[in-house]
Amino acid sequence: MDKEQIEITVREAIPDDAEQLVDVLGRVGRETAFLVMDGNGPAVTVEEMAHNLEDLYESPNNILMVALLGDQIVGTASVSASDKKRVEHIGEIGISILKDYWGFGLGSLMMEELIIWAKEGGIIRRLELTVQHRNIRAVQLYEKMGFITETIMPRGAKTDDGEFLDVHLMVLLVD
Ligand SMILES: CC(C)(COP(=O)(O)OP(=O)(O)OC[C@H]1O[C@@H](n2cnc3c(N)ncnc32)[C@H](O)[C@@H]1OP(=O)(O)O)[C@@H](O)C(=O)NCCC(=O)NCCS
Repeated sequence: MDKEQIEITVREAIPDDAEQLVDVLGRVGRETAFLVMDGNGPAVTVEEMAHNLEDLYESPNNILMVALLGDQIVGTASVSASDKKRVEHIGEIGISILKDYWGFGLGSLMMEELIIWAKEGGIIRRLELTVQHRNIRAVQLYEKMGFITETIMPRGAKTDDGEFLDVHLMVLLVD
């Protein structure tokens, strides 16, 4: 696919996205072994997803963004944080894009949007994520965005065949 042909919009997810999101996250879970989420997808019903999206939409330190090609969701990016005061500033990032759309700059675009959102919101001061060492594309994306590897966790994940994997804990302090 030609890079110039892709016209993408990024916006915050709304409850009406629930059905498509359950489907897309299921596809993503089947397509990649790089996520904790597997082929079972998000393991929530459409109703539960809609309810979750409503809560996220209201929360000042949580967000789920979707990337749309027309009205098709092709990627998601999220920050999840606690409502407990002592740790409300720590946001955990999750990002996944349908395989057909890898390598077109979408991941970079969504990460930039999340970082801008975090800066503007003023609550999140530490963005963190975990990523398998073998997920070179993702590690490079995060490094490009300014994340550093705080530690590498031996046996931080397992393949479906039971092989242990190193996992990076990567962090970006938001000032
Ligand atoms: C990881 C992921 C979000 C990246 O999204 P993407 O849209 O493919 O990323 P981009 O096109 O913006 O590329 C980001 C960077 O990845 C690196 N990259 C891209 N293609 C690459 C390739 N074929 N090989 C190695 N690195 C590559 C580059 O550094 C690139 O930045 P640059 O183009 O400015 O040099 C996406 O591949 C994905 O959803 N993967 C499956 C789920 C997943 O692994 N999520 C992360 C879990 S921690």
